[in-house]
Amino acid sequence: MDIHERIKEIEGRISEALKGVRLSKHLQEIKMKFLGKTGEISELMKGMRDVPPEKRREVGQQLNEFRGRTEEKFNALNEELKAEELKARYAAEKTDVTMPGIRGVAGSFHPNTLVRDELVSIFSGMGFEVFEGPEIENDYYNFTALNTPKDHPARDMQDTFYITGDLLLRTQTSAGQIRVMENKKPPIKILSPGKVYRSDDDATHSPMFSQMEGLVVDRGITLCDLKGMLDEFARKVFGEGVKTRLRPSYFPFTEPSVEVDVSCFECGGKGCRLCKGTGWIEVLGAGMVNRRVLEGCGVDPDVYTGFAFGMGIERIAMLKYGINNMKLLFEGDVRFLKQFKD
Ligand code: DAH
Repeated sequence: MDIHERIKEIEGRISEALKGVRLSKHLQEIKMKFLGKTGEISELMKGMRDVPPEKRREVGQQLNEFRGRTEEKFNALNEELKAEELKARYAAEKTDVTMPGIRGVAGSFHPNTLVRDELVSIFSGMGFEVFEGPEIENDYYNFTALNTPKDHPARDMQDTFYITGDLLLRTQTSAGQIRVMENKKPPIKILSPGKVYRSDDDATHSPMFSQMEGLVVDRGITLCDLKGMLDEFARKVFGEGVKTRLRPSYFPFTEPSVEVDVSCFECGGKGCRLCKGTGWIEVLGAGMVNRRVLEGCGVDPDVYTGFAFGMGIERIAMLKYGINNMKLLFEGDVRFLKQFKD
């Protein structure tokens, strides 16, 4: 077939192929078929090799012209299609700026987060630093170093989730006290919030909950310092008129140990349902750091003394916000959570 006819034949097929094209991406496909590296026109041009030398000039010219006008044709059509596509897109994306807006849903903080942040803010105001220990602890930090060796009956107070014989999920943030004392010389003033785990599950207990631990160690620290600090804490968290009282208790890592009550912020101490008629509500455990604990951490108990305290964050949140079932704090129901704005 001579070159004229080849060109005519291909040009005919190109026109045919372009007839129904509406989308620029289809146009691109067709373009590749004819003008692409292995397209028909390119193949035709490769055939120049076999053209006798005396005809090369003429054939070459014709092929170049053919390729040139074909490219132009594709480019022109491409521009047309692109312009139409853009028009269609603008039409589809048209926004009526006069429509009333839709307000985005703003989340709110979980009561636990609110209480934790409030406590951190109150205690950092008194000069406490935050230290966060690991949730997976070993037996030493969670028990032994806190004066609770293997056969100690106090271990039964906390049903422990063991991972191996030695590794466990910490049952109390008190474990962090040891880590701090091992690494820092007094004066020490730290606050340690975090999750703790116990095999316990009912309306007021959950297998995972949060605690806030505090530890102060320095020369001359006494129970009076603890009491003064607790008074300040109670006023800030539960309200100005709230008082504290200490009751004797037992924890292996403190001596003496106390249970701390606040005067009922609901009835002002007269007795109501919240305080079960007693006028007082128990909020935390505390005490003077047992000298055996200090010694074990390399702190000389004849030079330094300290106090520690630990409280359940969920318990504080329940009291403060009047939440009667702890499960509500773990369900993540937005209808419940959005009620807590500060
Ligand atoms: N770790 C105790 C518990 O989980 C709470 C506690 C009591 C912490 C007395 C203390 C403390 O630091 O001095 O029941």
